[in-house]
Amino acid sequence: MRVLVYGMGNQGSLLAHTLVTGNNDVTVLARGERAKQFREKGIVIRHFIQRKTTIDQVKIITELEPHDVYDVIFVVMKYTDFKSVLPILAINETKNILLVGNNFNPAEMEEYIKSNSTNEKNIAFGFQMSGGKKSKEQITVLRTNAGEMVLGSHGEKIQFQTTLEDIFAKTKYKLSFQEDIDAWFKNHIIYVLPLNLAHFIKDYDYKSAGKDSALLKEVVKAMHEGFDLLVDLGYKNIPKGQADFVTKHEYLNFLFYKLYHHTPMVKQSESSFIEIKAFYDELYKLKATSSFKTPNLDSLVKKAEEKYLLDK
Ligand SMILES: NC(=O)c1ccc[n+]([C@@H]2O[C@H](COP(=O)([O-])OP(=O)(O)OC[C@H]3O[C@@H](n4cnc5c(N)ncnc54)[C@H](OP(=O)(O)O)[C@@H]3O)[C@@H](O)[C@H]2O)c1
Repeated sequence: MRVLVYGMGNQGSLLAHTLVTGNNDVTVLARGERAKQFREKGIVIRHFIQRKTTIDQVKIITELEPHDVYDVIFVVMKYTDFKSVLPILAINETKNILLVGNNFNPAEMEEYIKSNSTNEKNIAFGFQMSGGKKSKEQITVLRTNAGEMVLGSHGEKIQFQTTLEDIFAKTKYKLSFQEDIDAWFKNHIIYVLPLNLAHFIKDYDYKSAGKDSALLKEVVKAMHEGFDLLVDLGYKNIPKGQADFVTKHEYLNFLFYKLYHHTPMVKQSESSFIEIKAFYDELYKLKATSSFKTPNLDSLVKKAEEKYLLDK
């Protein structure tokens, strides 16, 4: 299949690599130095756990023209970056678009693309279950299996599910379809937000974060509050096991995070405070419609916001 990966950070690079291994006709859209690097050296990925490096040669473009049509466009970027590409996606004539990455408002993005589009569009949303980071020189990915994506669309089956299954058929990459992708995303954001706030507060000094038991306990309590807040706001906890494990076993979770900070894995995932800030800003807009109390989450957000204003 003819596919485009639009946004080539570490998540997009792993996806592009997977699509190549699946015998697809892969084009990637990258910009600036990264596009130059890909042209000169191919897509070079260091797979941290597997201790191997892969190099893939693909077509590289730097702009998406309206008549440049693909079977599927995978847009892989931060929540805060999607906004700049929605108008380009809307006027491109590709029918099937999958937006991959954390997303607080999938419905709003779908509505924007569809209402500004010149052709019929199928929009779906996904989240790749891998981590990683990128430097100028290298993209490193952290994955425990061949790769996995949780994906869904609004209240119905993804219209191009079969096309997606064909695209990944020759790979070991797992597709996990979710009926309520909006609730899934919100739960995932609750799951990652407190720890990301703690890391920002500690200026990404993971050793110091790991030693700060009071902070890690606050993180776990903030997650617990977040999951309960979602229920209060009318969202389901999805996956239920994830929320249950946090809400019923706070101390075990605390121990897990304590140990996690002693592993090399903690340094292998990249987060952007700007994206995290966008998530808590959105979350607090929703929270304003409820009287539910989240003192630990509020405290983490307050500390992060103070640091953010001080750093500015
Ligand atoms: N990294 C992780 O460990 C991890 C783990 C789980 C989930 N996620 C989530 O996955 C999503 C993507 O993360 P990521 O780490 O892959 O992000 P990323 O490293 O920032 O990659 C996004 C890529 O999109 C490109 N991009 C942004 N705006 C663009 C535009 N207007 N036109 C063309 N290209 C554009 C960026 O290009 P430039 O390089 O030129 O800026 C960047 O290479 C996020 O929601 C993140 O939270 C990340």
